[in-house]
Amino acid sequence: MHEIVRQLDEKRASARMGGGAKRIAAQHAKGKLTARERLELLLDPDSFEEWDMFKGHRCTDFGMADDVIPGDGVVTGYGTINGRLVFVFSQDFTVFGGSLSEAHAEKICKIMDQAMNVGAPVIGLNDSGGARIQEGVASLGGYADVFLRNVEASGVVPQISLVMGPCAGGAVYSPAMTDFIFMVKDSSYMFVTGPEVVRTVTHESVTPEELGGAVTHTTKSGVADLAFENDVEALMMARRLFTFIPSNNRESPPIVPTEDPVDRKEASLDSLVPDDPNRPYDVKELILKVVDEWDFFELMPDHAKNIVIGFGRIGGRSVGFVANQPLVLAGCLDIKSAIKAARFVRFCDAYNIPIVTFVDVPGFMPGTAQEYAGIIKHGAKLLYAYAECTAPKATVITRKAYGGAYDVMSSKHLRGDVNFAWPSAEIAVMGPKGAVEIIFREEKGDPDRIAGREREYREKFANPFIAGHRGFIDDVIMPRETRKRLARSLEMLRKKKVERPWRKHGNIPL
Ligand code: HXC
Repeated sequence: MHEIVRQLDEKRASARMGGGAKRIAAQHAKGKLTARERLELLLDPDSFEEWDMFKGHRCTDFGMADDVIPGDGVVTGYGTINGRLVFVFSQDFTVFGGSLSEAHAEKICKIMDQAMNVGAPVIGLNDSGGARIQEGVASLGGYADVFLRNVEASGVVPQISLVMGPCAGGAVYSPAMTDFIFMVKDSSYMFVTGPEVVRTVTHESVTPEELGGAVTHTTKSGVADLAFENDVEALMMARRLFTFIPSNNRESPPIVPTEDPVDRKEASLDSLVPDDPNRPYDVKELILKVVDEWDFFELMPDHAKNIVIGFGRIGGRSVGFVANQPLVLAGCLDIKSAIKAARFVRFCDAYNIPIVTFVDVPGFMPGTAQEYAGIIKHGAKLLYAYAECTAPKATVITRKAYGGAYDVMSSKHLRGDVNFAWPSAEIAVMGPKGAVEIIFREEKGDPDRIAGREREYREKFANPFIAGHRGFIDDVIMPRETRKRLARSLEMLRKKKVERPWRKHGNIPL
């Protein structure tokens, strides 16, 4: 017994040292924390229960038999964040570059299976050179085992990926199937093929950062949600995101008590929308003034900025916000913004988080670039997402709701539960200029008549009354009362339940 305890201490100490002091120093020199340091920051103090600390790889090729490090390059287990259960894995780059062996994959699968059984989220801290090269197909199989669980868990328990080091090859597809991806600037990379292969195949010369760094993926590709300066910031923000989401698809997000009265009036909102319909305003001001304590957690802020998505709370309860942003491309819907918002709407729906949609949209973006790239199919994603969403939906049209985009943006016709308009709302098939050019084409040569027609068109449609007359909006509300009216609506919708006819699954246009 005494001997076994001694060996146990020795093995624990060895597992805690990972790849050894030299490699830990190298990890720190790159500005990265170790796998265990990261877990200490992510989880509540003293809450981590580690599993499989002694598990080792079974590979005997390429001299690997003599090189078994307890834990095999990944630290796994469960702990709490603000007292709420979460399962975690944290890849240890100091052990075989955090590469994924069969045993390493088994450890990840074990915590994922248990997370599903008990209904708790999974957070993965990725820092890995990809498939363990010495193991060949065994490690590829291990990846597929993880991928399968990512898919099974999707919509059942939230999954968050923090990419904090290399993530190359097929390894990117596990994070890609999780709900949120955070990256760290200058130390994390995601690419299907690295710069060397790119150079050989396409003759492009590109740095790892340009090809798949945090900035690239949070601006250009939209693969990742947020980019952070360092590991600590990324981990703290993961804890913050956690406060807005539920533990599983049968529970609600935690309620965060607030002193902020739900009937708080914001007089300044009455003048948010400028008199000139072509002048922009910042829709984030509206969101910040509506949520509890100005606390808005924006996702993908640097990608497709013409739409804003993120979480806030009203009356202490989590709400997903989707808002056209008039400051960028006049708030037009294009391919990237439709995909960005559609994926967010589907997350909220999967976990029954109410969605508040602020609408000021002049339509879909015209042009060959968009048409050739498939705006029909990609724009349809957002339409599909809102239409299939049975989570509570409250919509406020602040200004323009033109054309197909009116329908798409959580309109009454897509079973929006509560649809409000501000007095400044304009609901029409298109803007006055475009409309008059089409229906009064023969008067084109007469600028005065055209101006008169535009005035006539604007008077008819630049108000919320026609939509109100038809019941397409439930009420016209004063901007200052937006928070109060939304709070009441969401309270009314709290127990909303909608049964859908059986189907295996729908076929969202992908
Ligand atoms: C085994 C690996 C490894 C791997 C790194 N190491 N990647 N061991 N399998 N995939 C080891 C290195 O040999 C080294 O060991 C240690 O980890 C640290 O690696 P370095 O190269 O010294 O670190 P660095 O310079 O920071 O470079 C990191 C790296 C590079 C960019 C990740 O190691 C690299 O390019 N690795 C290979 C990446 C790759 O091609 N992976 C396969 C992708 S395909 P020592 O003992 O010297 O310290 C894939 C398929 C998945 O993943 C398919 C799923 C469908």
